[in-house]
Amino acid sequence: MDTRTSLPAVAVKRQKGHAGLMGNDLVVEAKGLRKSYGAVAAVDGLDLEMARGEVLSLLGPNGAGKTTTVEILEGYRRRDNGEVRVLGEDPQRAGTEWRARRGIVLQNNEDVADLSVSESVRHFARFYPSPADPADVIERVGLSAKRDARIRTLSGGQRRRLDVALGIIGGPELLFLDEPTTGFDPEARRTFWDLVRDLAKEGTSVLLTTHYLEEAEALADRVAVINHGRLVETGPPGELGGRQHAPAQVSWLVQGEWRHVKTPQPTALVRQLEETFGGEVPGLTVTRPSLEDIYLGLIGAAAGESGEEQLA
Ligand SMILES: Nc1ncnc2c1ncn2[C@@H]1O[C@H](COP(=O)(O)OP(=O)(O)OP(=O)(O)O)[C@@H](O)[C@H]1O
Ligand SMILES: [Mg+2]
Repeated sequence: MDTRTSLPAVAVKRQKGHAGLMGNDLVVEAKGLRKSYGAVAAVDGLDLEMARGEVLSLLGPNGAGKTTTVEILEGYRRRDNGEVRVLGEDPQRAGTEWRARRGIVLQNNEDVADLSVSESVRHFARFYPSPADPADVIERVGLSAKRDARIRTLSGGQRRRLDVALGIIGGPELLFLDEPTTGFDPEARRTFWDLVRDLAKEGTSVLLTTHYLEEAEALADRVAVINHGRLVETGPPGELGGRQHAPAQVSWLVQGEWRHVKTPQPTALVRQLEETFGGEVPGLTVTRPSLEDIYLGLIGAAAGESGEEQLA
C-alpha cells in the first residue's frame, strides 16, 4: 500500500479576512502563559509566536508542558494567566466559527469505537461549514482499505491515522497535532510527513509536538524547545543552538583505538592527519551535531556535550 503516489487533493477552503485582525500575520501569539495543576506549574511564563503558513514543532521532555500549552491554544483548557491570541481571537472566548477554523489531533482521544472509520469521518465533517470530502481524507491518511471497519478493531497506528483524518476533515487554517505519529510504522510516518507537507503547501499552519527529532527536522520550519513550562530556545532545525556553526567532531583510528577531536576547523585537521598518515586516514569520519545532540544540550540532559574531553 502506497498512498504517497496517489493523494487526491483535498479542497482546503479557507476563510480569508481574519489575518489582519491583529495588524500582523501571526496565527498564534502567547505571552506570559501560565497554567498550574495544584502545586505543579505545567506552563510557567511561556512566550510563543507562530506565523501564518508556518510548520512549528514543539519539542520538550515528558512533562515539559507541551500538551497543556497546545490544549490552551486549542481552546480546550483554561489558562491561569497570560495573553493568548489564536487566529486573532482569545481561545477561551472564541465561538463556533473560530472553532471550525482550527483542526485538532489530541494526544489521547476519546473513543467513538462503535462507529466505522467512514461513519466517524462523515459524522465529524458535519460540524464544519466547508469540510473536505470524507473519502478523500480517508485515502489521504491511508485508511481506504479500512473504511468500513469498526474503530475498535483498528490497530494502534491505524487508530492514530483516523485521529489525523478527524483533525483535517474541517479543512483547518491552523492544525494542532499532539504527537500525531506515535505508534506509526516507518512507512506510515513517511506518508504522514508527505501529508503534512501537502497541507503546508496549501497554506495550512501546523503546530506539531513530537518526540521524534527526525520528524521535527523533516517537517518543521522552526522548532521551539520547551522545558519546565518555559521556552528555552527557538529557531530553524538547522540553526537551533548555533548548530550550523557548531564544532565538528573528527574521528579516526590509531592502531585499533578511536581518537575523537572537536574542532571548528575540521578541514585543516583532516589535511594535517593526511600528512601524518601519508595518505588515507583510517576510519576517518567528520560529523556535526544532530538536532538530537543540540536538543539534549539545550535541555541540559546531555552527557559530555560541552565540547570538553571527558565523558560523564
Ligand atoms: N490534568 C492534569 N492534572 C494534573 N497535572 C497535570 C494534568 N495534565 C498535566 N499535568 C502535569 O503538568 C505537567 C505538564 O504536562 P503536559 O501533559 O503538558 O506535558 P507534555 O510536555 O505534553 O509531556 P509528554 O511529552 O509526556 O506528553 C506534568 O508535570 C503533568 O504531570
Ligand atoms: Mg503531551
